[in-house]
Parts: sequence; structure tokens; C-alpha cells
Amino acid sequence: MSQLADALVAWQRTHGRHALPWQNTRDPYRVWLSEIMLQQTQVAAVLRYYDRFLARFPDVASLAAAPLDDVLALWSGLGYYSRARNLHRCAQTVVAQHGGVFPASAAVLAELPGIGRSTAAAIASFCHDERVSILDGNVKRVLGRALAFDGDLALPAQERALWQRATELLPTDRTDMPAYTQGLMDLGATVCSRSKPDCLLCPLSGLCAARASGRTADYPVRTRKLKRTRRENWCLWLQTPEAVWLQQRPDSGIWAGLWSLPLFDSEADLQVVVAGADAARVVALPGFVHVLTHLDWTLHPRRLGLDPSDADPLAARLGKGRWWPLDQLDRIGLPAPFSRLLLGR
Ligand code: ADE
Repeated sequence: MSQLADALVAWQRTHGRHALPWQNTRDPYRVWLSEIMLQQTQVAAVLRYYDRFLARFPDVASLAAAPLDDVLALWSGLGYYSRARNLHRCAQTVVAQHGGVFPASAAVLAELPGIGRSTAAAIASFCHDERVSILDGNVKRVLGRALAFDGDLALPAQERALWQRATELLPTDRTDMPAYTQGLMDLGATVCSRSKPDCLLCPLSGLCAARASGRTADYPVRTRKLKRTRRENWCLWLQTPEAVWLQQRPDSGIWAGLWSLPLFDSEADLQVVVAGADAARVVALPGFVHVLTHLDWTLHPRRLGLDPSDADPLAARLGKGRWWPLDQLDRIGLPAPFSRLLLGR
């Protein structure tokens, strides 16, 4: 019997979160959707998207049948768009290969697009009480501290070792699994925070090895630091009274599949495209920094209003892309900064 599991389950039942929209259900579709949305995204942000997404796609069949563009449009602003593409592919796989029913076991779930080992464990433990451990970034911190786990989690072998320890700590009674999994998440999101853990409120403080040695700040151990880079681009906002010119981003990388203003590496490159009489009418809007996980991206918008008669020759010089009518912009996937720029939200 695991003391840690007992303490965590009891704490979750009295002090944990119970009223989030994806709780109090065993429907794998709803749980899966929430877990994908919550990857690297705060609860507060997901709350603005989750119900709207479910209203449009109430089940896996409706999601699988939808055009990818509709899915990306509903995801617009949540970030990490490869999640939305995998979500769509996963729904199609569940329909085509599993008769429209999510597999019950974590091992089979983890073979689906976009579902890693931890997400699979969350779904299987919440919906089917399976005794499998989650291990996302927050849980690595909670267990890394509780166990004073000294292995460097940048090394796959050490991560596997922590996963093994996590498995040994699971509750013996499988009906405790939903509360246990949620307890790990709740503790990591609230009490056992990165910089200021509130050990006085923690149900594990009596058995936490890092706390016993006063070294909570030393765990989890991870040598590889995120390397941040910078980038700068100029974006051309070509606007007629009815439409704006947008280019679809490639299938991988930042903003994969979303519709972007054409990007240029320099102001000069942009000016080549609008060369001639138009160049003087280009309006330089204030630049801004768009912050991504690994990248500080400075964007400089340049706006050019056009008569419809002048529009097509200029667009032809841009090559790829298309005019999107203004009244359809809220239905396509726009990166968040362009949504703010073009739609004011
Ligand atoms: N983060 C990841 N999964 C979560 C969940 N089920 N509840 C709250 N935060 C989460």
C-alpha cells in the first residue's frame, strides 16, 4: 500500500478541483479533448475554448467528418497548432480503425496520433480506472521532489526510471485512480509550484524527501535548458474593401496549416513586391513581439489598401495565397496576432 497514494487521494477528494467542465464525466472523447487542449496550456485559456469546441463537435464522429480548416479555426489562439491537426487525425483513426470508440487501454491509446504515454494514462485512468501513471512536466516536479529523484530527466533512461517509480506508487485500489491522477495534476498546478511550493498546505510534506532536506528548489533535475532564439519578419497586409490576401502556412512548423499574412525577411524584400507607385502608400504599423516557447518573434506589419482593380496584379507577384473575404475571416484558422490585427480580437 502506498502512503503517498492514500494521502494524495484523500487530499484530492477534499481539496482538489471537482468542477472543471471536463470532470464528472467518463466520456473518453471529452476527457481526450481536454487533455490535448491542456497540454502546455493553462486551464484559464482552455476554459474559453472547450465548451465552444464541444458545441460544434459533440462527438468523435462529427470531428472526424469536419474539414481540417474548421478545426483549426476553432483552435485559433490556443497555440501549438500541430495539436489540432493530430486531434483531427486521431478522430479519423478512431472512426476508421476502432469503430468510433476510443480504445480503453492506455497502451493502445498511446498509438493514436497526438496521444503520448502521459495523455494515454490520463484518459485510461479517468475513464476506466486503469492503474497507469501520468508523468507530465508538473508531475515530474511533484514526484521528483517527493522522491528526491536525482536522475537527470533530460536523459531518456532517467525519465524511464522515474516512470517506473511512479508506477510503483500507484494506488492498489483501481477505483482510486481518477482521484489519484487528478490529485497529481492539482498538486502540481497549485501547491507544488515551480518557484514557491506551499509545503505547509501539501498532503505529501510529511513524506517528501526534498522537503526533509530543504532542497525543493533542486528538483526535478534537468540539465538541458531551453535555448531561446529570436527572429524578425515583415508582414504584408494587402487589403481591398472586401478581402485580404493570406497564405496558408506549411503543414509543419510554427502555425502549421493556418492562414498568415505573407512574411518577408526584410523590409527591402517586402518593398520589391509592392514596387512602383504603390510603395509610397504602404503604411508602417507598429511592430510587436510574439512570444513562443522557443522563440521571440518580432513582426512588423505593413499595410497597403488597394482598389479591387489593382489587387490582382500585385497578388500575382506574391504567387501563393488567396483573397479571403473579410466576412469569412472568423471562420478560418488565423494565428492569434493576425486575428488581433485583422479582426481586432
Ligand atoms: N492539466 C492537464 N490535465 C488536467 C486536468 N484534467 N485538470 C486540470 N488540469 C489539467
